[in-house]
Amino acid sequence: APEHIPVICIDGPTASGKGTLASRVADRLGYHYLDSGALYRIAALAARNAGLELTAQRESEIAAVAATLPVRFAADRVLLDGQDVTDAIRTEEAGMNASRVSALPAVRTALVELQRGFRQLPGLVADGRDMGTVIFPGAALKVYLTASAAQRADRRQRQLSAKGIATTIDVLRADLEARDARDSQRAVAPLKAAQDALLLDNSEQSIEESVDQVLRWWEERQPFK
Ligand code: DC
Repeated sequence: APEHIPVICIDGPTASGKGTLASRVADRLGYHYLDSGALYRIAALAARNAGLELTAQRESEIAAVAATLPVRFAADRVLLDGQDVTDAIRTEEAGMNASRVSALPAVRTALVELQRGFRQLPGLVADGRDMGTVIFPGAALKVYLTASAAQRADRRQRQLSAKGIATTIDVLRADLEARDARDSQRAVAPLKAAQDALLLDNSEQSIEESVDQVLRWWEERQPFK
């Protein structure tokens, strides 16, 4: 295993801003970026395309789909079996479906090696729920990102309205609290901070401030500077 290749993990709940933070930190450092949530979203979509219901009764079949995902990341597009699914995996429904399949242990196991394969030189920034606890337990820096549910619902509403999608804040908030509950209470790799994670509450921070905070922590971890 490429244990010498540096990894920064950014875990946290739905709509905490992990994706934006992690991809910007990766850009600033020239590192690779893993959006592990996208893999669960893609696995759920592929399972639906294969006609599978997303229930525990179908666990082994969904896991088989996840183990052989014909997925490619090209620039900022996601291709599943050559088809552009970038937008299809970003809906609220796709997120809820991802949360469902992610609670199935065999599906999580099926995605482990795919995720670890993103650890390539010069380094990786990985975001998700269990990057620091399960996938990269030896990571040099682990950040656990939080923001209040109200803040997160508000941000999600802005994102959606920028895309011309109208929603009510109450529905969004109920939705993300339901997803948080499922992700935190599942038996395998639940959402929780790694013991050695640094907590970052970005409720009152701009994206740039959060990026700079993580980069400062990263510098402090460099032994030769
Ligand atoms: O980060 P996201 O909203 O794209 O993730 C979608 C779902 O996938 C999330 O509700 C739980 C699951 N997930 C997970 O279980 N483990 C991860 N490392 C990333 C996502």
